[in-house]
Amino acid sequence: MSKVGIFFGSSSGVTRGAAELLADELKGSELIDMEEDFDGIEQFEDFDVLILGSSTWGQGDPQRDWVDPLYDLSNDRPDLEGKKVAFFGAGDQKTHGEHFLSALGKMHDLFTSLGASAYGFTSTNGYDYEHSLAEREGKFCGLGIDDVNQEDLTEDRVKEWASQLKNEMGL
Ligand SMILES: Cc1cc2nc3c(=O)[nH]c(=O)nc-3n(C[C@H](O)[C@H](O)[C@H](O)COP(=O)(O)O)c2cc1C
Repeated sequence: MSKVGIFFGSSSGVTRGAAELLADELKGSELIDMEEDFDGIEQFEDFDVLILGSSTWGQGDPQRDWVDPLYDLSNDRPDLEGKKVAFFGAGDQKTHGEHFLSALGKMHDLFTSLGASAYGFTSTNGYDYEHSLAEREGKFCGLGIDDVNQEDLTEDRVKEWASQLKNEMGL
């Protein structure tokens, strides 16, 4: 059975809520809070499947607890060939619609450049924003949630995405 790690960084709790719901849906997965539980990039080696959550901040940047790990990954460049990855996170399509969910795109590019295979792409239908670095060929390269403007959709979006990951990743 694949070992699944759900790593998340969340400043006000929205991405955390999604991570906890995902952990409920994906039985046997382990939750890793990037602020409290993360020991270093070797920890990614412990899992076959990495489900990586970050909200977007600043000008389309990953949440602050991801900054050092992403820097270390891009410097050390460990081989992640054979690992399956998927990305999720919170954003705000109205106030920050020029960089909506862009952290997911940045993380996608880094992890795939290290050899990991990305899963869990989703439709951009139902979102209204100007620009996002998370778009790949007309889809988001992961799951976007927006509790600022669409809180009522979050739970269903997360549950649906968990089913999609189970199917796509064979979990
Ligand atoms: C100063 C500031 C900058 C933000 N920048 C972005 C952004 O560039 N793109 C985006 O989609 N959301 C942006 N947001 C919205 C947050 O990502 C959103 O509030 C999210 O729900 C926070 O999730 P978290 O609680 O998991 O950290 C920003 C919010 C603030 C307050």
